[in-house]
Amino acid sequence: MKINAFSKTYEGRKVLDMPEMELTSGKIYAVIGANGSGKSTLAKCLAGILTTDQKQQILSPDISVGYMPQKSYAFRMNVEKNIFLGSKDLIRAKKLMKDLQIEHLAKKSAAKLSGGETARMALGRVLMKTFDLLILDEPTAAMDMETTSLTENLLMEYCRETGCVLLLVTHSLQQARRVADEVFFYYKGKLVESGKKEHVLYSPEMEETQKFLKFYGE
Ligand SMILES: Nc1ncnc2c1ncn2[C@@H]1O[C@H](COP(=O)(O)OP(=O)(O)OP(=O)(O)O)[C@@H](O)[C@H]1O
Ligand SMILES: [Mg+2]
Repeated sequence: MKINAFSKTYEGRKVLDMPEMELTSGKIYAVIGANGSGKSTLAKCLAGILTTDQKQQILSPDISVGYMPQKSYAFRMNVEKNIFLGSKDLIRAKKLMKDLQIEHLAKKSAAKLSGGETARMALGRVLMKTFDLLILDEPTAAMDMETTSLTENLLMEYCRETGCVLLLVTHSLQQARRVADEVFFYYKGKLVESGKKEHVLYSPEMEETQKFLKFYGE
C-alpha cells in the first residue's frame, strides 16, 4: 500500500512532514514519539479527517480506512447500539463484546462508561468492519494492564485474519515491542527513523531515537 508524500502546516508551522511510504498488508506498524511530535496529525491526515498542505489524495481511493481517534467517542445510546453502528453483524458483535469484556455493559448508556470502558466500546465499534488500513490512536492509553493485553491479542488476531495494515499510535514501548513488526519514530513532525522493531527499538541509529529510548531507561 503506497502512501504519497505530504505535509501539514498549522498557523505557519509545519507540524508534519512525511516522505512517500510503502506499507505491507498484515503488518503492524507502531507510531511512537513525544507529545506534539505529529502522531495524531498523521493519523487524521491518513483517515481523511484533515486536509494536507498538498490537498491531494494521500492514499488510493479504493483503500478502505478505519480510524479510532485518541479521544474515544460515545454516541448517546447504549453500548450495544454503539457497537452496531460499526455493522449489524450480530455474531461478530457478540464475539467482540466478549473479547473486550464489555458484555455486561451491553444495555448501559454509553455516556455513563468509565474512560477505559469507553475505549473498549469504541474499539469494538471500529473492529466490527474490516479495512485495508486501520489507524488506532493510542487505543489502550486508558485501559488497565489486563484489558491492554486482551486488546493487543485481539488486534494481532484481527490483522492476521483480515490482512489489514495496522497503524498503532502508542506511548508504550513495551506495547510496540510486543505487537509491532515495524516502528515509525517521529520527532518534531519528522519521521526520523523507521524500520523493523529490532532495529528502531533495540539498536537505533539516530541520536533523537536513542535519546527518546533513554527516557524509558532503555
Ligand atoms: N488544530 C490545531 N491547530 C494548531 N496546531 C495544532 C492543531 N492540532 C495540532 N496542532 C499542533 O501540531 C503538533 C502535533 O500535534 P499532534 O496532535 O499530532 O501530536 P501527537 O504526537 O499526537 O501528541 P500526543 O502524544 O500529545 O498525542 C502539536 O505541536 C500541536 O500543538
Ligand atoms: Mg496524539
